[in-house]
Amino acid sequence: PSSLTVLGLESSCDDTAAAVVHLRADGRASVLSSVVDGQVDLHAAFGGVVPEIAARAHAEKLDYCVKQALTQANTTLSDIDMIAVTAGPGLIGGVVSGVMCAKGLALASGKPLFGVNHLAGHALTPRLTDDVPYPYLMLLVSGGHCQFLMVLGPDDFKRLGGTIDDAPGEAFDKVARLIGLPQPGGPSIESCAKSGDPKRFALPRPLLDRAGCDMSFSGLKTAVLRARDAVVLEKGGLTPQDQADLAASFQAAVVDVLAEKTRRAFALYPDAAPRTLCVAGGVAANQSIRTALETVAQDFTAGFVAPPLALCTDNAAMIAYAGGEQSRFRLPDDLTLSARPRWPL
Ligand code: KG4
Ligand code: ZN
Repeated sequence: PSSLTVLGLESSCDDTAAAVVHLRADGRASVLSSVVDGQVDLHAAFGGVVPEIAARAHAEKLDYCVKQALTQANTTLSDIDMIAVTAGPGLIGGVVSGVMCAKGLALASGKPLFGVNHLAGHALTPRLTDDVPYPYLMLLVSGGHCQFLMVLGPDDFKRLGGTIDDAPGEAFDKVARLIGLPQPGGPSIESCAKSGDPKRFALPRPLLDRAGCDMSFSGLKTAVLRARDAVVLEKGGLTPQDQADLAASFQAAVVDVLAEKTRRAFALYPDAAPRTLCVAGGVAANQSIRTALETVAQDFTAGFVAPPLALCTDNAAMIAYAGGEQSRFRLPDDLTLSARPRWPL
C-alpha cells in the first residue's frame, strides 16, 4: 500500500477530538498529533453525560480541535490525503456535529471522506501502536461498552459476547457513588482498593455458571449496595476501611469475571499461532485488570497488548488510523453519509 496522511474527527461521547495519523507503506503508523478536549467539568454537576450539553460543546469546539491537530502535525488541509470521522455509534447530537464538520472539510478540500465505526476505532488501536497480526482477540471495556471481538481485518469483526446490561466502567462509576468516592469511579475505586481486603465481602461473579462469554455487571452493583447498607445499618456509616474493603471486593469480582470470560473467549480463537490478546477502552487503565488479563494470555501462550492510556480512552487518532486502514479495502463515503446512534460491528 502507499503511504497516507489522515485527518480524524471524534465526537461520539464527551470528548471532542481531532488527530493526524500517518500510515506508512510498510503498514506501520505514527500519530502526528492527537488533540482531545474533554467535557468532564461540563457534566460534573449532573452525575453523567448530558447529551444536549455534549452536542453543543462538540459543535463549538470541533473547528478549534481540527485547527490544533493540523498545526501540531505541522500540516494543512491541502496536504492531508483523506478525512475520517466517527459516524456512530454514540450520542446522536455529537455524532451529527462531527459528521457535518467532516463533510464541510471534505467538500472544501476535495479530499475523500470515510465514516468510521467508533468501536472499530477502539478495536484497531493495538495495531496503531504495536505490530499485532490479524486475527487477534480484543476485549473492549469502557464506560459504555463491553465486548469480546475477534478482529479478522480492518473492517471484519466477529462479536464473541459481551455485557447483557451495564458496561464495567458504568459499574465502577455507580459503585463509587454508592460508597462515597469521587467520579470518575474507575480511578478512585482502584486507588481506594489498594488498602482494602478483597475477601471481606462475598460478592457474586455473575454469569460464570453460564457457557460462552456474555457478562453482567448490574447485579454486582446491587450486591455492593446491599453490602453497604448492611454496614451502614450496623455502624451508622462507612469508615474509610469499609470503603476500601467494599472497593477491593468489588474490583476483585470484576477482575474475576473478565479473566474467566477471557479464558472462554480463547476457546473460540483459531489455534493458529501467533495469538494475541488485546485490550482497549477506559477500564483497560486498571492495573489489576491488566495484570489478570496478561496472566490469562500467558496461560494460552498468547501475546498481550494494552495500548497506552491516551489511546485506550476516546481519541481521534484511532478513528484516523481505522479510516486509513479501511480506505485500502473500500470506497469513500459521499456527502449522504449519515450519523448512526446505533451501529453494531
Ligand atoms: O473509554 P472511556 O474513556 O469512555 C467511554 O466510556 O467511551 O472510559 C471511561 C470509563 C469510566 O467509566 C471510568 O470510570 C473507567 O473508564 N475507568 C476505569 C479506570 N480509569 C477509567 N475503570 C477502572 N479502573 C480504572 N483505573
Ligand atoms: Zn469509546
